Amino acid sequence: MKNELMRILRDKNTTRKEYWSASDRLGYILALEASEHVDRKQVVVQTPLAPAACSQFNSSIILVPILRSGLALLHPFMNYYTNARVGFVGMRRDEKTAVASLYYKNLPSFTSDDDVIVLDPMIATGGSAIATLEILLSSGIAEEKIIFVGIVAAPEGLAALKSAYPKLRLVVAQIDEKLNAHKFILPGLGDFGDRYFGTEQ
Ligand code: URA
Repeated sequence: MKNELMRILRDKNTTRKEYWSASDRLGYILALEASEHVDRKQVVVQTPLAPAACSQFNSSIILVPILRSGLALLHPFMNYYTNARVGFVGMRRDEKTAVASLYYKNLPSFTSDDDVIVLDPMIATGGSAIATLEILLSSGIAEEKIIFVGIVAAPEGLAALKSAYPKLRLVVAQIDEKLNAHKFILPGLGDFGDRYFGTEQ
């Protein structure tokens, strides 16, 4: 299913409605995959018939979409993590240099037990991801409590992220070939946010 949804997202002839729908459905799959990294505890619940051993998330979960493309993953993740709190980090990518700069930050208060899931569909150079992780770590979140979720990653961005934060857990749908001269992912899917929000030139 993941490959089928990726085909729809990559195809330049995909309509916006199909694009939203594929992005949403892929978001559910990634939410499920990310849950494998969230701490759990064993609990016993009472069914109408007998006690049953089950697992329960151990900590509270904070979702942090990186604006603006990360918003596309927020809705499926909120549907899955129904008690999650949400914080926002806004990163602007300079069109010429591809360097990310912070323009907005609104994070809830954290405890060291919270699991933080950062959402950003495209990991190109890794610049926005690294800048966001710096902010989270300086707010007191432990690296090993952060799960980074993306849809497409370039090997260059993944390598930069892993070398800066070796304890980070990463969930990505597909890893592509490389970056082009403009730091776009090849073959990629174009500008994720522009296609999702309908702001292509
Ligand atoms: N952001 C995108 O939306 N696409 C890319 O290929 C790189 C960064």
